[in-house]
Amino acid sequence: MKFALASITLTAMLAVPFAAQAQFAKPEDAVKYRQAAFTLMGAHTGRIGAVVKGEKPYDKAAVEADAAVLEMVSKLPWTAFPQGSDLANSKAKPEIWKEQDKFKAAADKMQAEVGKLSAAAKSGDLNAIKTAFGGVGQSCKACHDNYRNK
Ligand code: HEC
Repeated sequence: MKFALASITLTAMLAVPFAAQAQFAKPEDAVKYRQAAFTLMGAHTGRIGAVVKGEKPYDKAAVEADAAVLEMVSKLPWTAFPQGSDLANSKAKPEIWKEQDKFKAAADKMQAEVGKLSAAAKSGDLNAIKTAFGGVGQSCKACHDNYRNK
C-alpha cells in the first residue's frame, strides 16, 4: 500500500513538473539535481550519437536501452527549476523564470522527440533512428540557445 502511494506520488510529480518545486531544501540542491539529470541525458544521447555517426557499430539492444534511459531521465530536470535557483554555478538563464510557458514548451517538444527516438530504437530501423536522433538534437539545441548560458 505504501509502495503504491509512493508510485502515485512520483507519477503525479512527473506529470506536473513546475508544481513539484517544494522538494528541495536549498536552491543549490535543485541546481545539482538538474545538472545531474542533464549530464545523464548528455551521456546517453552521446552514446546513440556515436552510432548515428557510424563511430560505433549499431547494436539494437544497446540503442534501445540508451533511448529508454534518456526517455526516463528527460522527465526529471523540469522538477528542479525553483524560483531563485539561477545561481552562479548554474548556466540557467533568468529568462527561464520569466517565460515559464515557453520554457516548458521547449521541454515538452524535446520529450516528444525523445518519444519518437525511443519508438525508432524499438523498431530496429537505423534510418528511422537517425532521423529521430536529428529531431532530438535540434530540440536540445533550441532550448540551450534560448535558456542556457555558454
Ligand atoms: C527546455 C530546455 C532544455 C532542453 C530541452 C534541454 N536542455 Fe540541456 N540544459 C538546459 C539548461 C537550462 C541547462 C543548464 C542547467 C544549469 O546549469 O542549471 C542545461 C544543461 C545541460 C548540460 C550540462 C549539465 C551540467 O552539468 O552543467 C547538458 C550535458 C545538457 N543540458 C544536455 C542536454 C541534452 C542532451 C538535451 C536533449 C536530449 C537537453 N540538454 C535538452 C536546458 C535544456
